[in-house]
Amino acid sequence: MSTSTAALTQYENILVDRHDAVAVVRLNRPKVLNALSPQLMAELTQAMAELDADPAIRAIVLTGSERAFAAGADIKEMADASLVEMVYRDMIGVWDRLRQVKKPLIAAVSGFALGGGCEVAMMCDFIVASETAVFGQPEINLGVIPGAGGTQRLTRLLGKSLAMDMILTGRNLKAPEALAHGLVSRVFPVESYLDEAIALAKDIASKGPMALRVAKEAVNKAFETSLTEGLEAERQRFYMLFATEDQKEGMRAFLDKRPPQFTGR
Ligand code: HXC
Repeated sequence: MSTSTAALTQYENILVDRHDAVAVVRLNRPKVLNALSPQLMAELTQAMAELDADPAIRAIVLTGSERAFAAGADIKEMADASLVEMVYRDMIGVWDRLRQVKKPLIAAVSGFALGGGCEVAMMCDFIVASETAVFGQPEINLGVIPGAGGTQRLTRLLGKSLAMDMILTGRNLKAPEALAHGLVSRVFPVESYLDEAIALAKDIASKGPMALRVAKEAVNKAFETSLTEGLEAERQRFYMLFATEDQKEGMRAFLDKRPPQFTGR
């Protein structure tokens, strides 16, 4: 790890560390390959909300272990549930809170990212992977389908043909294939993937926080609206940034041939 770390709130199923303005949230149920139990997801979404509200944090990395980012929702916890129990538990409603994170959120995936693990990775803004990463939606082999966005996000990210192939057969994609098809943005050696992800997050954390926030909103619009609406949303945000000190600082620093100092104002 490249910098010293200081623990934030203690949780049972996740670890939270700070590296300057970057928070690293690590899924931590190693015995079950970070299976995403309701308690883990409650802790994860609470930690994300706290970090999102913490002005000292400007970017977040979500990771697991070298062996597993997460091997899916906890099968033991839901195997015997009835339909009514599943509806009242609304576990996916809790998972969905990850969409509310406004700061840049990077998934750093090594090993298995299966089922709900793949879905949580895809809820992040982008995914970087180690060479050993394996992505898949094997729910079909359990008699179910992806339930936390897999059928929607995988299809938008990879296209219908490959998404159908993966979801109907349960086959996995290894890191090089995931890179080739745009599911991940970068692949690093397993020894350094987390340090690389943290370095990437630090680079992002050095940019203007308001510009980052609206950039994320604008890119996410591309998933949800028509091109015309998305272009309008982008244009309004672009003009809006001229009301920020960071826009003045960024452009002035370029003209002065010096690095910008962004404050988030
Ligand atoms: C509960 C799990 C688990 C899971 C692994 N384990 N995945 N427990 N839920 N999703 C446990 C195993 O039971 C085992 O516990 C221990 O972790 C180690 O796993 P092994 O299977 O022994 O390891 P290995 O042989 O290396 O195989 C790794 C694996 C396999 C290929 C990842 O574990 C696997 O297929 N896991 C399930 C993947 C999956 O189907 N995910 C989708 C879940 S449904 P013990 O006690 O035996 O040591 C889903 C729906 C999401 O995600 C819907 C949205 C909410």
